[in-house]
Amino acid sequence: MSTSPVRRPVDSTYSLDVCPRCEEGILAHIQAPHDVEVAGSSIRIAKVQMEECRRCGYRALSGREARLFDVLFAPQYERIGDLIAALRSARYVGMFLREEEEDSVLGFGSRSYVKSLAGDLRELYLDNESSHILQGLDRHEGSVPVDVAGRRYTIKLPKIGEGENGVVYDFAEDPGAVFKVAKPRAYSRGHLVKECEVTAFFARHLIPVPAIVDYDAYGNWVVKERLEGASLAVIYDSLGPPHSERHRTVRAAVREFVLRLVELFGRFPESKTSVSPNNIFVLEEGSSARCLLVDTGPAPTHDYSRFDFDEYWDVVIPQKIERYRAVGYI
Ligand SMILES: Nc1ncnc2c1ncn2[C@@H]1O[C@H](COP(=O)(O)OP(=O)(O)O)[C@@H](O)[C@H]1O
Ligand SMILES: [Mg+2]
Ligand SMILES: [Zn+2]
Repeated sequence: MSTSPVRRPVDSTYSLDVCPRCEEGILAHIQAPHDVEVAGSSIRIAKVQMEECRRCGYRALSGREARLFDVLFAPQYERIGDLIAALRSARYVGMFLREEEEDSVLGFGSRSYVKSLAGDLRELYLDNESSHILQGLDRHEGSVPVDVAGRRYTIKLPKIGEGENGVVYDFAEDPGAVFKVAKPRAYSRGHLVKECEVTAFFARHLIPVPAIVDYDAYGNWVVKERLEGASLAVIYDSLGPPHSERHRTVRAAVREFVLRLVELFGRFPESKTSVSPNNIFVLEEGSSARCLLVDTGPAPTHDYSRFDFDEYWDVVIPQKIERYRAVGYI
């Protein structure tokens, strides 16, 4: 490994997140009871970390709590004895016990192994896996080798982007592609899988989108073509005053592009994605500009029936950018 671990401040970007469902609330971390189904019996764990959006009601196990497994195996829970016995008889021994060893290679496990896991355990395993990867990468800088189900990707830090559902990195083996890791929750893995599925749909409707190079069927990572340009979230504040040529050029290109998308969503509601400024890439070429859709993942709860571009440009974009800055996405 060509790097040494570097500790970031405690309030690293990794501790805060925008709700992946409504994209408006900031997720709160709470503790709540949770039932896990193992080998046919339901086991209640008294206190697990969950994340909750007070705005839309989204609530799910926080996959960041990789320590859930410590709780699962803790001796003070009497009924956990049953769980451990069930895990052992199902030959799950040791699978969650990957320590956060700073010198060991970070990796995603074999997908045939993931396939062999039953429902709840599979989701817990996948959360645990991406949580270790993201936390591990967050502790380093420079280049870090990651074992991706048997293949080696040398991830370059820092991240090049982040959204509600994933963190995106360059990697050494292919400068023309990016590596996106899903945040540790089923919702975000679902987002990545859908992203791959609907890419062809957008391409067919002549919306420029990055090609999918490789992806995990369970949604924990995707390798995509690297887009030229920069996200609207990154360039918006540098566009200059509204009457300046650059501002007007970019605004007109975004307007045309977003209205085309909204019209497409009206005809094909199942293709609805978020037109967040993080998802729109702008490629400026001389005095002209064109747009690309960098994130095709679904946004089923978004309502575009009263979409108003002026409001989007003047109010929604600045609000979103402020939120992205607050949580460290940009
Ligand atoms: N194919 C790509 N090429 C270049 N940058 C990318 C690419 N995909 C993602 N990014 C960067 O990562 C950010 C977050 O990616 P995105 O796919 O929107 O994640 P999420 O699903 O979490 O919303 C983007 O705004 C962009 O800056
Ligand atoms: Mg996005
Ligand atoms: Zn929400």
